[in-house]
Amino acid sequence: MNMHKYEKIWLFFGTGTLLVFLIIVGISAFYMGNQPPSCAVTLDPEKVDEWPPFDEPGLKQIGDNEYQLTVVASAFHFDVGTDDGVVQIPKGATVHVSATTKDVIHGFELVGTNVNMMLEPGYISTYTNTFKNSGTYTLLCNEYCGTGHHLMTATIEVIE
Ligand code: CUA
Repeated sequence: MNMHKYEKIWLFFGTGTLLVFLIIVGISAFYMGNQPPSCAVTLDPEKVDEWPPFDEPGLKQIGDNEYQLTVVASAFHFDVGTDDGVVQIPKGATVHVSATTKDVIHGFELVGTNVNMMLEPGYISTYTNTFKNSGTYTLLCNEYCGTGHHLMTATIEVIE
């Protein structure tokens, strides 16, 4: 088969970019552990307040340097289990976040980290993150949810 030189170059270029793309996706998924947030776990959105663990939002230690953070979102508030909306996490801790919403769709973005989920009524969104750097992280809602959307924040403090 006779192929023009430019056609060969394009063929190699196209195949090459496809391989590079698949390698990047593979490294991201299997080495860096970036997975799509799970939406397979459901609950009754009318009964969030009685549904463990959402009946007791907040931070709980579950192991050596390992924590469970349960968050209930509602318009226009994140219930993180504290009156002032601030959660303190020791530096280096691994935190398993479970979050859901009582009413409409909300966002769950922890600015400066990979934690970025959509909270949908009836579903439990989970993400595991290890906080390697100390500092103050803002938890914000990045899905427009109504007139108070811009006020919907909480704070995660990673302390030494
Ligand atoms: Cu909740 Cu925007």
